[in-house]
Amino acid sequence: MSSLPSGGSSDGPDGDTSPPTSLPTHDLIGIGFGPSNLALAIAAVEHNGQANDAERVAVRFFERQPAFGWHRGMLLDDATMQVSFLKDLVTLRNPASSFSFLSYLHDRGRLVDFINHKTLFPLRLDFHAYLEWAAARVADLVDWGHEVTRIEPVMSDDEVVAVDVTARELTPDGTGREVTYRARNVVIGTGLQPRFPQGISGSEHVWHNQQLLHRVEEIDGQAAKRFVVVGAGQSAAEVTAFLHQRFADAEVVSVFSRYGYSPADDSPFANRIFDPNAVDDFFEAPASVKEMLMGYHANTNYSVVDGELIEELYRRQYQEKVVGRERLTMMNVARVEAVREQGGSVAVTVRSLTSDRTFDLDADLAVFATGYDPVDPLPLLGGLGAYCPPDHNGRLKVQRDYRVVTTPGIRCGIYLQGGTEHTHGLSSSLLSTIAVRAGEILASVVSGISTARLPQGGAKAPVAALRHLIS
Ligand code: FDA
Ligand code: NAP
Repeated sequence: MSSLPSGGSSDGPDGDTSPPTSLPTHDLIGIGFGPSNLALAIAAVEHNGQANDAERVAVRFFERQPAFGWHRGMLLDDATMQVSFLKDLVTLRNPASSFSFLSYLHDRGRLVDFINHKTLFPLRLDFHAYLEWAAARVADLVDWGHEVTRIEPVMSDDEVVAVDVTARELTPDGTGREVTYRARNVVIGTGLQPRFPQGISGSEHVWHNQQLLHRVEEIDGQAAKRFVVVGAGQSAAEVTAFLHQRFADAEVVSVFSRYGYSPADDSPFANRIFDPNAVDDFFEAPASVKEMLMGYHANTNYSVVDGELIEELYRRQYQEKVVGRERLTMMNVARVEAVREQGGSVAVTVRSLTSDRTFDLDADLAVFATGYDPVDPLPLLGGLGAYCPPDHNGRLKVQRDYRVVTTPGIRCGIYLQGGTEHTHGLSSSLLSTIAVRAGEILASVVSGISTARLPQGGAKAPVAALRHLIS
């Protein structure tokens, strides 16, 4: 891997926080090191392995977690992947890569056992271990435990020629140092953040499902009498099943506006909406067709549940009816409107959509499995945001190669991994296309820098030289 000396650093909050005026310039700095930027790091490593000096890229990543972790709060023992393992970090871009899920299984001595299992959908625990295994192999490219706090333009002759990306080291006492790296390109892969219904926020007895396993030990299993789970998506169904099984004496009330949990459409023709080619179709389509496609196929992903889990929850509920001890309740055609902490419990205000009446449910805990939003990149971009004219809905405009559309006067590239559902479609926040997307972003970066880096304005890397990045 092409590497550069470390960036500038400064002391904690009381020290001088301005970066040195001259810093080595990386070709690419990635913000966040979830699966998306991990796939990009691997693409860079594989590219550098076969590129000549002029095309090699110096890349570095910041990740705020102290070590690799993928939605650890929902890493339930029996949860399975919602995507084929063949849509791993690399296979759709480079089926011969040594970073594939199959290579991981081989490394762990489990390949034959997995084949006999006859599934495309491994346990999330297994896939998480795969991601950790892959991340460990490129860990030297990452500053772990570093949260990026700002990105600032580096000016030359009234042009933005690079960006300074500054991160604070997260230490328990808050005195971590700041580190700044300069880069020609920045790739924002900061993922998703929990969404609560309007007017509701997290508290002692009100959690988002993202926190589930981080906080579940706080619950007194002997005393807990009732849990409320809000939502009808995959998260809600998984949390409902988990709490019902773990707290064998407590009631679990699942509140949602549908009549019943609905299965995710993973039939083969509909599943094509997650194909790499579908990104081209979606990108080119007019806004009205984009909206139509999202409407038709939202049920491949949003507010839907894996069929087997639906069957399992139904089986449990029916069994309880037979036995005569009913702990699992579905409060359907209803929405949660408010919550009120009341000492050791929470009052959850539910509106029945059939009667239009509201009533309060007292619970030991309310878990909101009410979805996620992509993290808005604009606060991080700070002053650079002025170079990124928004669309008529206030969202960033993004090119097909995931580069944010910018005004003249800025030469560096700002790329998005995630947060592009409005331009690139449903797979934006999912794993389905991350291998291919990483290759496309890297090809765009390499083609841009080969021009900028050569002294006499060398030619762009010929497309043939980048074939290995674009499947
Ligand atoms: P992701 O959110 O994974 O990573 C972003 C990273 O950026 C995090 O590690 C975060 O700490 C870091 N970060 C954020 N801000 C930062 C900052 N300022 N500085 C430094 N670091 C920062 N999809 C799918 O296709 N199949 C599936 O089976 C599943 N399963 C699944 C389960 C659960 C419980 C959830 C919530 C979601 C899924 N998904 C999914 C969708 C999910 O979005 C997807 O799997 C990946 O997490 C997307 O990877 P990213 O790297 O884009 O984001
Ligand atoms: P989601 O699909 O967006 O579902 C959110 C749910 O919350 C919807 O049913 C929504 O109902 C409901 N809701 C919102 N506000 C409400 C209110 N006030 N009252 C009642 N219900 C309310 O979110 P998700 O289930 O977290 O899934 C998000 C992504 O994560 C998906 O891609 C999913 O596949 C993935 N995921 C994967 C796994 C896994 O791999 N095992 C596990 C969990 C999640 P309305 O639609 O009616 O508003």
